[in-house]
Amino acid sequence: MSSNLINNDEMNVLLEVVKQTSGYDFRDYSSRTLKRRLGYVQRSAGLEHLLDMVPLVKKDEKFRNRLLKSLSITVTNLFRDPSFFLSLRKKVLPLLAKKRPLKIWHAGCATGEEVYSLAIIIQEVLGQIPILTYATDINNKSLAHAHKGVFSIPVVQEGTSAYWASGGTGSLSNYCHCQYGSVKMNPSLGEKVNFSHFDLATDSPFGKVDLILCRNVMIYFNDHLQEKVLDLLTQSLNPGGILCLGAKETLKFPKVIPKYYEVDALEKIYGLKRASCSTTEKHQVMAVNL
Ligand SMILES: C[S@@+](CC[C@H](N)C(=O)[O-])C[C@H]1O[C@@H](n2cnc3c(N)ncnc32)[C@H](O)[C@@H]1O
Repeated sequence: MSSNLINNDEMNVLLEVVKQTSGYDFRDYSSRTLKRRLGYVQRSAGLEHLLDMVPLVKKDEKFRNRLLKSLSITVTNLFRDPSFFLSLRKKVLPLLAKKRPLKIWHAGCATGEEVYSLAIIIQEVLGQIPILTYATDINNKSLAHAHKGVFSIPVVQEGTSAYWASGGTGSLSNYCHCQYGSVKMNPSLGEKVNFSHFDLATDSPFGKVDLILCRNVMIYFNDHLQEKVLDLLTQSLNPGGILCLGAKETLKFPKVIPKYYEVDALEKIYGLKRASCSTTEKHQVMAVNL
């Protein structure tokens, strides 16, 4: 069954049931992604109609979890988009070097590869400074995985070349060790990280941080939810704080754009203007870009 045969009204009925039974609100996710994912679950469950899922979502917890898992896309990598991590190293961390503690929020951290990648880069650029990291997601299974910090050997092998491409000059093996056929990241990288559940679609800001990575998350949201989440992220940044988006994500909304200046437009890295000293910030960025 092709995903464009899925009817919007039926999809909304199903998503309402998902919301009532699980608390997760996917109604403002991009309908193209939703239809593709729901079509896939429908086909693999051998169901003729989309609404055949309704009783299963209501009564079958296993099916409901399978559907939720399918709607939350958790693809990630160590040093995903190495040029982005190179820019963090060269342009962003020097701007934040004096923050104590440096407060970071990974919004939509999936299984944690991004969290460990950033922790490694911070150690290499800034040394052992006090850091407070929040790593959040809606997917509890991914969060548990992230908390353990255990990855498969191929993930780490792939991560090794990405680490070098991101400006790393040491060896990734200095930050992890083999454990029962997998690779465990050094606990020191994850011990200051608060892994917790946070739903960007429904939860409220929880405090201010200096650096937010919300990458490859909003790409799955419609414009309404993207704007709402950008507002939440903006409220959660200290003045002068840095917001990092994914390669295909943008600030794009007229109410959001003027609040930020570009730190590295190509890598989708933006700084929140301080009301009175946006020019100073621009000068700082120019200095580190030189
Ligand atoms: C494709 S992964 C991106 C992981 C990582 N940021 C990266 O760029 O590699 C998207 C993550 O966003 C999470 N997510 C989706 N909707 C969310 C929401 N409403 N609130 C918080 N996280 C969400 C998914 O569970 C998934 O783990």
